[in-house]
Amino acid sequence: MCGIIGLVGHDDAVPAVLDGLGNLEYRGYDSAGVAMRNGHGLEVAKRAGEISDLAADLTDALPEGELCIGHTRWSTHGAPTDANAHPHTDCTGKIAVVHNGIVENHAELRRGLETRGHEFDSDTDTEVIPHLVEEHLEETGDVGAAFRRTLAELEGSYAIAMVVADGSSIHVARQGSPLVIGLGDGRSFVASDVPAFLEHTDRVIYLEDGDVAEISAGGYRIATADGEPADRPVRTVDWAPEDARKEGYDHYMLKEINEQPDAIRRTLHGRLSTDPVEVDLDLDDRLDGVERVHLVACGTSYHASLYGAHLLSRYGTDAGAWLASEYPGRMPTIEEGTLVVGVTQSGETADTLSALRHAADSGARTMAVTNVLGSTAARECDEALFIRAGPEIGVAASKTFSSQVVTLTLLAGHFAARTGGIGPELAELLTALPALPGQVETVLAGTPAEGIARRYHDQRAHFFIGRGTAHPVALEGALKFKEISYEHAEGFPAGELKHGPLALVTEETPVVAIFTGRDDEKTLGNVREVRARGAPVIAVASERTSVGAEADEILSVPETHPDLQGLLANVQLQLLAYHVSDLLDRAIDKPRHLAKSVTVE
Ligand code: G6P
Repeated sequence: MCGIIGLVGHDDAVPAVLDGLGNLEYRGYDSAGVAMRNGHGLEVAKRAGEISDLAADLTDALPEGELCIGHTRWSTHGAPTDANAHPHTDCTGKIAVVHNGIVENHAELRRGLETRGHEFDSDTDTEVIPHLVEEHLEETGDVGAAFRRTLAELEGSYAIAMVVADGSSIHVARQGSPLVIGLGDGRSFVASDVPAFLEHTDRVIYLEDGDVAEISAGGYRIATADGEPADRPVRTVDWAPEDARKEGYDHYMLKEINEQPDAIRRTLHGRLSTDPVEVDLDLDDRLDGVERVHLVACGTSYHASLYGAHLLSRYGTDAGAWLASEYPGRMPTIEEGTLVVGVTQSGETADTLSALRHAADSGARTMAVTNVLGSTAARECDEALFIRAGPEIGVAASKTFSSQVVTLTLLAGHFAARTGGIGPELAELLTALPALPGQVETVLAGTPAEGIARRYHDQRAHFFIGRGTAHPVALEGALKFKEISYEHAEGFPAGELKHGPLALVTEETPVVAIFTGRDDEKTLGNVREVRARGAPVIAVASERTSVGAEADEILSVPETHPDLQGLLANVQLQLLAYHVSDLLDRAIDKPRHLAKSVTVE
């Protein structure tokens, strides 16, 4: 976790770094800091709290500098205090380091350094790095060599950026945590993720594990772990700067919920034709021979995977979804023809990467379904399929769920086309996809979610039920609700309620029931069970379902193919969670204890 940015060659580097950190806050936000080099050497400013707190401290005396590194932290070692905030420095105060990842052998390294007289200011694993560089600099007199010698001593994962008081470049290294270089005009950037510098440039270089680089105002030098010069491709990202701004919305999450029509359009663009029905995911014959698909994922991506597995199976491809953190422990034997698909917005989630690596080691073919071009998952897997949702900044995933499910629906079409052909039932589903963005627009324009949120935001708990594809939507609705409102919410398969969870249902626990047009009568039966216990019912349904007097409230959605109905329902649930959380005055874009990209297992 944690976000890193570095900038060299900008007249006013500090404000630019603070802005960039703001776009990385989704990676962690319990403390922040910057180190800048100006005419007087190195100055460090850091503190517990959000980036806005740090920026407020610096407003009166924004130190000018042309070279600056910054960090936003999500604590793994040591509490979120001023002292534990990055950057960390050596004993002389002339070497400053920001780090994302974990130095696993930090305790041993620290003991050695302390024995040799180094004094530590923090409880972090990171602080060993500047002290080691300090020692190696004394031996070698060369910053680059000292940095390399230090890296050779570290075990674990890292993305590191380092500045020294009398240098004019930033030294960076990547091992297991993302790092990307941005190339501007006479200035260069380095960051954990592209939105940090998207305002300034769209020309990027994704570093690979083991890479060590030095960036200066005029350019960059990259070398491999063995010190050999490395040539990495310069790519142009197709995200616009406004994608990384709030653009008038109160929260990124609300903006991203509203971006879903466009996100789905981009996901579909050029990949589906309906007369005749054809899918082109640019995979040619590369997945031919796949007989079964294991989807591995975490959080919202796991719910999208459950949804996708349901559709893949229904339309002829043997598929199942696993929580990535559980997959290595209970992975079925990998037989010939198994494709393991990591579904991951960021492409950097440690649990998902670990499941994918485990699968690859066991002989599976692997594919990433991701939103981030150049992410670790995209680069490590045999294949990568981009969901094209555009940058997502709010910690709670929203538009990427929709784009993931649509991508997996197209994948079902791809497999069917490459095997027995797209049959009439699947053709009907695929033909319904192009209307989806417009239907999401209808939901967004007419949603009564805010009023319902007002009536029910102060209840004891909220339960979400659904069957078939509405089950993952119920899980996702509850996850969204709990992660941003901090209120108790649970999702259940509708039929499972009577086997235990019904004991929790009272008149103070609204039940949100999701209908898709399949098995609605059974779900209505479950609704009657909860109403008999006094629970208010909020139905999410199209006109096709006769909910009638069984519901107290209706979040209505346009009628679409039953297998896509859940996607429209999900938008209503995102809005419900959003408005409840807004009424409760929660930190919607940055819920407590959570981070968007979780790079620890
Ligand atoms: C974190 C985020 C979740 C996200 C999950 C998986 O826990 O807080 O919102 O769904 O990671 O992220 P990924 O990038 O792999 O989809």
